[in-house]
Amino acid sequence: MSGRRLSRYSITTRLALLFALALAALSLGAGGYLYHALTVDLTQRDDNELHGKTALAVEELSRIDSLAPSDTRDSALAHMVVGHDRLTLYVAGADGRVWFATRTPRVPAGARTALLESAQARRLANDGHSVRAFGRWAHLRTGEAVAVFVESDTTETDRLLARHLREILLAVLLSALLGLGAAYGIARSGLRPLRSMADTAKQISAEQLGERLSVEDPPVELRELASAFNAMLDRLQESFTRLNEFSSDLAHEMRTPLSNLIGQTQVMLSRGRSADEYRAALESNMEEFERLSRMVGDMLFLARADNPQTRVSRRPVDLRAVALKMQQFYEPILADRNVSLAVSGDGRIEADPLMIERAVSNLVSNAVRHAEPGSEITIRIEDRPLATTLQVSNRGQPIPAQVRDRLFSRFAHADTDGREGEGVGLGLAIVQSIMKLHSGAVTVNGSGEGETRFLLSFPSAAANLPART
Ligand SMILES: Nc1ncnc2c1ncn2[C@@H]1O[C@H](COP(=O)(O)OP(=O)(O)OP(=O)(O)O)[C@@H](O)[C@H]1O
Ligand SMILES: [Mg+2]
Repeated sequence: MSGRRLSRYSITTRLALLFALALAALSLGAGGYLYHALTVDLTQRDDNELHGKTALAVEELSRIDSLAPSDTRDSALAHMVVGHDRLTLYVAGADGRVWFATRTPRVPAGARTALLESAQARRLANDGHSVRAFGRWAHLRTGEAVAVFVESDTTETDRLLARHLREILLAVLLSALLGLGAAYGIARSGLRPLRSMADTAKQISAEQLGERLSVEDPPVELRELASAFNAMLDRLQESFTRLNEFSSDLAHEMRTPLSNLIGQTQVMLSRGRSADEYRAALESNMEEFERLSRMVGDMLFLARADNPQTRVSRRPVDLRAVALKMQQFYEPILADRNVSLAVSGDGRIEADPLMIERAVSNLVSNAVRHAEPGSEITIRIEDRPLATTLQVSNRGQPIPAQVRDRLFSRFAHADTDGREGEGVGLGLAIVQSIMKLHSGAVTVNGSGEGETRFLLSFPSAAANLPART
């Protein structure tokens, strides 16, 4: 049976069939061996008897003068096969004529010469009987050569052997059938843990992602499968929980600007307003719209970046040029807050330029927002053997503990003190997504000595691993 055809059957059926087949082959082998040993043994016994009797007859003949019938001659020769019903002894002259025989010989006259020449016992069959015969030359006392033959009727032995063969074949068939039944039962009970695993797996749904397969109960072979399955469920559950939290966060985040918009608009509409008042209201609405629009844009970006199919198109990026661009871009706000921005170092990487700009800009915008007035923000680029790094540091209040743990998750707000221009809380999540897309990492080096440092590290080409998504 080919593997392909076998695979159509259940494991239980396959195991049972293969086991029965193996058992049949084994018992056939053992039976065949025994049968062969028995045949050899019986033949050997026959041959010993044939040889012995012939030797005796040869000796007896050497004491006789002539083959002419005489009572002494006949009784001496006949005596040799007394009690051996299966044996026939006969003596023939050199001309082939049978002088004496204890019974009619079964070996045809024509076959006797061959028998004498081969000097070995041979199997011959004649009219429904099978015989084993042996013949050799002898000499009378006068020196005259005569041929002595002894035949053994092996019909009974053959029947016995045939019966044994039938019994062996029956035993083989029976053991195959019993093996099939036993193996089926064993395989079924052996595979029970698999069925119970499947039953548990069937109960797992989106609402019941907490359910796990037991890893203690199943046999060793299935434990690995159970753990792998459980690990998959862990990941699914985590993603599912994250997705749930995320949509509730998103709804929560959008509610504030929307209710601001609705409130302001309702107040405006409550009575007649001057053109200036309308303008002021629209300007304030515009801010909320921009915030909403930015939130949606950021969300879209994150959704795309987190898609496992997303690939970055890498081009050479000069990190120093990026940093200098930030300096220029944030110039007005920096001046406004009385903060300066210094750039040092140099480094090039292969990356998506727009994404890198976005990541650095997010870090700088945070630094600007949190920097102490009059302090200096620094961007330090370093080209190290294993990685190229870009560090943005600013002096300011340390990051609050409640934000620290989930700094890079979405909607991680710390600006609970209601500072103006409060962020959406997606900036660092986006930085992290971008770094993951580039097989790099973003880390925060705490706020020791009142300085907050965010470090982007890009593994250099030599240490570059396939992008993790
Ligand atoms: N340089 C920094 N110093 C102190 N706290 C920081 C600094 N950078 C980030 N944080 C804290 O981490 C939080 C998350 O930052 P993130 O950039 O993700 O969001 P955000 O700046 O509030 O909003 P967004 O960047 O989307 O406008 C911030 O709210 C702030 O509390
Ligand atoms: Mg930010």
